[in-house]
Amino acid sequence: MKSSPSTPALDPRTLRDAFGAFPSGVVAVAASVKGQLTGIAASSFTSVSIDPPLVSFSISTTSSTWPLLREADHLGISVLADHHDAVCRQLAGPREERFAGLPFRVTENGSVLLDEAVATYDCSVHQEVVAGDHLIVLLAVHEVGGGGGEHPLVFHRSGFAKLHRDDLDPARLDGRINGAEVGSRESSHESKEDAA
Ligand SMILES: Cc1cc2nc3c(=O)[nH]c(=O)nc-3n(C[C@H](O)[C@H](O)[C@H](O)COP(=O)(O)O)c2cc1C
Repeated sequence: MKSSPSTPALDPRTLRDAFGAFPSGVVAVAASVKGQLTGIAASSFTSVSIDPPLVSFSISTTSSTWPLLREADHLGISVLADHHDAVCRQLAGPREERFAGLPFRVTENGSVLLDEAVATYDCSVHQEVVAGDHLIVLLAVHEVGGGGGEHPLVFHRSGFAKLHRDDLDPARLDGRINGAEVGSRESSHESKEDAA
């Protein structure tokens, strides 16, 4: 959507701060491409579709890694665990050092999956959509797994955090998730699953 002529241009710093207010997890997107370990850290990962199974992440159009990674037949997505903060920084750092000393496995189709990830996905590129200074990469999901990790790493306001599970008091909520009445604990659970 175009902004009207009277709308002042959004300052990139202000926009970054607003984007940073939204918490996310972080994933490793990685593959062995022609025998070369290739990957990045990405906080833009999100689930997209159940049928067909699709997930997405966004990659900068200036990425020097994506032109290599997109050549992989299969890509591994590993949801980073809360002790993976240094791993995350390493995967976002100098290309030749990204996998140095990391515990990971390479599947027979070339996906690279980190040990102790909270969840893993075996994917292939389904579609790339140009979106401003990023590409939205849609990935077809072929297989999912538990990576052995328990709690996810959280990325918020440019920093790492842990998820502190402290479920909201139902008495202070409006009692509805997706329009469904949340009465008992069980029905609340069902509604959450439907909402996922
Ligand atoms: C927490 C975190 C999240 C990141 N998320 C993304 C992302 O979603 N998309 C992206 O293009 N780069 C993201 N990056 C940067 C990449 O990991 C990587 O540093 C960048 O792609 C530059 O390397 P390249 O030129 O080899 O691609 C993130 C970095 C960090 C530390």
